[in-house]
Amino acid sequence: MRSKFSPSLNLTKIEHFSKVSFFENENTSYVRHKMTGHYLDWKNQPGVFKHYPGIDPVLLPQNVHPPEKMLSALIKGTAVSAPLRAVSIEDISLILRLTCTLTAKARHAGGDFYYRSVASAGALYPSEIYVATQSINNLDDGLYHFSIAHHSLSLLRKGDITAPILTFFLSAIFFRSAWKYRERSYRYHLLDTGHLIENLTLALKALQLCPALSFDFNDSEVNRLLGLDETKEVCLAVCHINGTQAYEDKETEKITELQDNIKNASRVAEKETDYPAVHAIHKAGTAVISQPESKPGMIHELGLAADKGTRIYPPDPWPETLNYAETVSHRRSKRNFVRQPISQGCLTALLDGLCSDQNQSMRTGFLAGNAEGFDPGIYLLDTSSSLTAMVDSGLFIDRMAHICLDQAWLANAAVHFLFMSNLDFVDSIWGPRGYRYAMMTAGRLGERIYLMATAMGLGCCGIGAFYDMEAAELLCLNNHSRLLYLVAVGQVKSVKAFA
Ligand SMILES: Cc1cc2nc3c(=O)[nH]c(=O)nc-3n(C[C@H](O)[C@H](O)[C@H](O)COP(=O)(O)O)c2cc1C
Repeated sequence: MRSKFSPSLNLTKIEHFSKVSFFENENTSYVRHKMTGHYLDWKNQPGVFKHYPGIDPVLLPQNVHPPEKMLSALIKGTAVSAPLRAVSIEDISLILRLTCTLTAKARHAGGDFYYRSVASAGALYPSEIYVATQSINNLDDGLYHFSIAHHSLSLLRKGDITAPILTFFLSAIFFRSAWKYRERSYRYHLLDTGHLIENLTLALKALQLCPALSFDFNDSEVNRLLGLDETKEVCLAVCHINGTQAYEDKETEKITELQDNIKNASRVAEKETDYPAVHAIHKAGTAVISQPESKPGMIHELGLAADKGTRIYPPDPWPETLNYAETVSHRRSKRNFVRQPISQGCLTALLDGLCSDQNQSMRTGFLAGNAEGFDPGIYLLDTSSSLTAMVDSGLFIDRMAHICLDQAWLANAAVHFLFMSNLDFVDSIWGPRGYRYAMMTAGRLGERIYLMATAMGLGCCGIGAFYDMEAAELLCLNNHSRLLYLVAVGQVKSVKAFA
């Protein structure tokens, strides 16, 4: 089958480019009428489950009941950081189940295919999860790989390797997404990781463990710790429990290389095509720049002038119809939008959920198309003061659907959430690694929207495929700013039960 999702590339040497984030985005952009064809090599379709032959897995307890909490309480509540409580193997089982589990099965000629509680571009699932544990009953201290297929852990390294209790490492296997998206795939590695991070941090909060997330670490040392073949798989995010020592505080020079049979597990297809641009872009972000004390925000950097802000008054409680655990297992992408308005209560609750997280590397806005209480137009969200401000009035949703590679169904959605960034500004503050921060944050908030929409009985779909320059022009972004990710929300025809 011929995939139309292939950018036209104009690669120059990335190491000579000072504004790496912008460069990355430009050179993996989709340009109308300049899309080169790409045949999907089904015989070399990457495996979506990582295997470690010869390692007996530890099965995690199955029947652990999730807490009866609402998503709104987790998103809006402050996570508990003290006193730190003991963590059990049941907790680990539940955290991992709430982070990523199989939720639906599709039967294909080639075999069964499983969808997951986390969204992933093209359902290619590049992400893997590793857990380092210490002092947990019925579990040897060490580093484990989490098998989503079997809900089990495979011990890769025995002994104390991190701070007390537990640390999660999220990686991406390049070829899984590159198989379809080629050079543009690095965006999806980052966005997908962001989606997984959101599920993980919510799961930790649900168990009253305060997540401490880090995108900053020594890439090579962490990859070595995890036993990754870093030409194929790299760690992108680390999350430990706040109140415990962070992984980076430990001495890392003692970490030995793991055996080849473990490193070989990063290979997911017989014949893997290498995309040098993906490696180059990732490598460009290796350096961790010490961040300035007080960082100026993205708020004035997109070149957009907005009206005076209007405060959001979300309903209390949010109009949720499912609790948090039900929401996680019911989350799916829905594209069967109908042209019916979403209520003001739903939209203000969604915006409220986005305001509970402050970040400086990207900016949230939205296109209102069919939402009560919001005239059609382009809006910006000021997350620090819970204000929305109109930038331009008009029906932009239809035009955006055309820009999103003519995915016409997007025109029926009520709202398109927009994650935008001035990439030169990101580089100037954080260096090239800032691109990772911006994209993973966009993915994180994208997963949050999916979950909030699911909890409120609305449909949702993330969109990474769009003509980049056309999107920037429609939104009137300045020359250095781009749309990173779009998430559509609206009423859908019917919400079916899942297999
Ligand atoms: C980063 C990202 C980009 C995506 N881009 C698109 C897209 O452009 N068009 C689309 O129809 N779906 C898109 N999706 C939705 C995925 O195709 C969907 O998550 C995947 O098929 C798994 O199905 P599920 O979400 O129902 O579990 C995207 C998802 C993510 C996370």
